Amino acid sequence: MTISMSPKPQAVDSQETLLSAKKNFPDDLPSDHPAHLVGKNAYFTSRLGAAFWGDSLEMLQTLPAGSVNLVVTSPPYALHFRKAYGNERKDRYIEWFLPFAKEIQRVLADDGSFVLNIGGSYNQGMPTRSIYHFKLLIALVEEIGFHLAQECFWYNPAKMPVPAEWVTVRRVRVRDSVEYVWWFSKSPHPKASNLNVLKEYSEDMLRLNRNGVRGAVRPSGHVIRNSFDKIHAGGSIPPNVAEAEFDVAENMMKMGNNAANDFYTKRCKEEGIKIHPARFPALLPKFFIKLLTDAGDLVVDPFAGSLTAGAVAEKLDRRWIAGEAVEDYLKAGIFRFEESMQHPSLF
Ligand SMILES: C[S@@+](CC[C@H](N)C(=O)[O-])C[C@H]1O[C@@H](n2cnc3c(N)ncnc32)[C@H](O)[C@@H]1O
Repeated sequence: MTISMSPKPQAVDSQETLLSAKKNFPDDLPSDHPAHLVGKNAYFTSRLGAAFWGDSLEMLQTLPAGSVNLVVTSPPYALHFRKAYGNERKDRYIEWFLPFAKEIQRVLADDGSFVLNIGGSYNQGMPTRSIYHFKLLIALVEEIGFHLAQECFWYNPAKMPVPAEWVTVRRVRVRDSVEYVWWFSKSPHPKASNLNVLKEYSEDMLRLNRNGVRGAVRPSGHVIRNSFDKIHAGGSIPPNVAEAEFDVAENMMKMGNNAANDFYTKRCKEEGIKIHPARFPALLPKFFIKLLTDAGDLVVDPFAGSLTAGAVAEKLDRRWIAGEAVEDYLKAGIFRFEESMQHPSLF
């Protein structure tokens, strides 16, 4: 893998040897490299993708219409407890986000999808929930014209029990353990195949397959046919809940207890670079990239943070473009590509 950096290669000097950085970008990139689709210099490029430093609204505005198969992203949420990179206020959130959404709609192919991970939030000083994210969903459908293909959820049991006032002090609310992952599409029939994300059959399914199922009508009225007992597809259809724990277990099995995020964290500590405070697990982009794209398709993350989505896209042989406003996060995100180079057999 070749990784090039521009326009400030000196900002990433410490990584240049490992990453075989080249300074003459973009002349030496293949003509079909996605870096050429963006009307500005990339911060760095890899075999299949490019990361851009700056405001992603400007980056999106330079992308050709219809050129992107999937946008998968997690923007800053409207939180009271602000992250280092800053968060928009709830009352201004929709106004802030819609210009991005408009560009995302424009750059998507007609059968493309937009997957948005967004967290809920409490109203200031009250044990009641804000509905800012639901208002956003409605605006994305009714003002921008997206279709809501499916609402999905990320089950994250490691979320902090906050706000402490309501959860751990007064004990009048329970822990919040899910985040919303909304799958929007440009048309009602986006490219998608759940055959690409099948899970292993459960013991129950395998037992049913062995013993056979008699046709029956469930109390709910659903008709179970005899053909139900045939296991054809090679796995069961996954639910619309992504579980971070599942991916950790998967990574532990595949990588000998060395989850992708651990390598990133370790390298950040070694180099004294800030660890991104709000990464999503690789599982999330992985699931949707497999569900919604084919090898060679173009995946974009305009709020890229530590480049989780770009690194997963590269591993899955998809082309990718990422945008991030904070240079330190991009610098550290390069570690994810270093990992692929050092352990190619893991992917
Ligand atoms: C929730 S984080 C994304 C984390 C990412 N999914 C990961 O796994 O590392 C949101 C990111 O959006 C970035 N951001 C906010 N506004 C931006 C803008 N206008 N252009 C580019 N990046 C922006 C922030 O700096 C932050 O790193």
